[in-house]
Amino acid sequence: MTTPIGIHDLAFATGSRVLDLSVIAERLGTELEKYTIGIGQERMSITAADEDVVTMGAAAAKQIIDRHGVEGIRTVLFATETGIDQSKAAGVYVHQLLDLPATCRVVELKQACYSATAALQFATALVARDPRQRVLVIASDVARYELDSSGEPTQGAGAVAMLVASDPDLVVIEPGSGVFTSDIMDFWRPNGRVTALVDGKYSIRAYLQAVENAWSDYAAQGGFPISEFSRFCYHQPFTKMASKAHRHLIKTAGGDLDAGVLDAQIAPTLKYNRIIGNTYTASIYLALLSLLDSDEELEGAKIGFLSYGSGSVAEFFAGTVQPGYRQHLRAEENRAVLEARVPIDAAEYLVWHERRDPSGLGEFTLPNETPGPFRLAGFTDLKREYTSTQ
Ligand code: CAA
Repeated sequence: MTTPIGIHDLAFATGSRVLDLSVIAERLGTELEKYTIGIGQERMSITAADEDVVTMGAAAAKQIIDRHGVEGIRTVLFATETGIDQSKAAGVYVHQLLDLPATCRVVELKQACYSATAALQFATALVARDPRQRVLVIASDVARYELDSSGEPTQGAGAVAMLVASDPDLVVIEPGSGVFTSDIMDFWRPNGRVTALVDGKYSIRAYLQAVENAWSDYAAQGGFPISEFSRFCYHQPFTKMASKAHRHLIKTAGGDLDAGVLDAQIAPTLKYNRIIGNTYTASIYLALLSLLDSDEELEGAKIGFLSYGSGSVAEFFAGTVQPGYRQHLRAEENRAVLEARVPIDAAEYLVWHERRDPSGLGEFTLPNETPGPFRLAGFTDLKREYTSTQ
């Protein structure tokens, strides 16, 4: 029998500020229902001036290190679309902030919103080779689109950290995946741009096509039949996208298309993303956290995961929720973090939106704003300087 490998622990962090989408609706003269019903979003997390993908990623990973220590961690995989340097991996800063062992490899992965899934799969392969090892996977992003663009209501910020290990406490990642790649331009961010470019309607069609192709490959590889899955986690640029993708998957796979059944299969996965917004690489694993933190009893449940990254790469794979998983959750703490975010108004939102990474300015000190455990203090000689706040 092969050793079960999967997600031993899962934690998240997000921007410490929050914007209600009514602020954007008012400025653009849009009906709020277009956002709350049409795309299924209510709020979006916003980063403070001294927060970025490193501070959020480190804050998420710290919860895991505090609980499990560093034993067995010889690899850190940092997945992001929001790279902070053309050369150095953001995870190396996290490695230092968390005081991880020097006997460790750290690398960054990029493919739009998909790369955390590549990191998770690479991590399971490393653990399969040596089950004593544990891999820290971090997904962290800040989603930003142009003001007045169709993507503006689908911004957000957040990070997820996962400890991948043998005999995991939370979810076994089952062997076998369906994968799909197609060179398209539905969403991209040329070097030097802070905001992403997107062909919104095309990106939705491309996502649905990728769902179909990833599932076809999964079935051809001999994966579980669709009837064995009871819950599904999707990449959620906005939560309505998960509903569209789910209906398309079930139709493609020949499952039960009853609206109530479809809704029950994904509703608990939408709660966090609905009030955090798009977190690119982290979003599908925030969906998993939202599901695990819900009131449902999921022991033994088979979860289908559909990961999509524009450009585009997609993957379908399966996970099995482990007996006793509830003892290892932080549901109350997670809800408290979301409640503690500081609401911002229209003027503060515009300041955030105009903010640019000051790394090219040489010397720069950032205001002390974050309540989180780590902050980006500033830049010296064009070097980023991160500090602990505790
Ligand atoms: N009440 C209720 N519903 C309303 C409404 C109202 N008053 N007004 C409009 N709606 C509904 C519309 O009917 C529509 O629903 P359907 O899609 O079910 O038909 C929905 O609200 C959205 O309306 P529009 O299509 O008119 O909205 P839009 O053109 O302004 O923008 C969008 C929608 C294209 C998704 C846009 O938000 C966008 O460009 N987002 C960024 C791109 C994106 O997220 N793409 C997703 C796939 S790519 C990906 O997943 C990678 C990634 O992370 C980016």
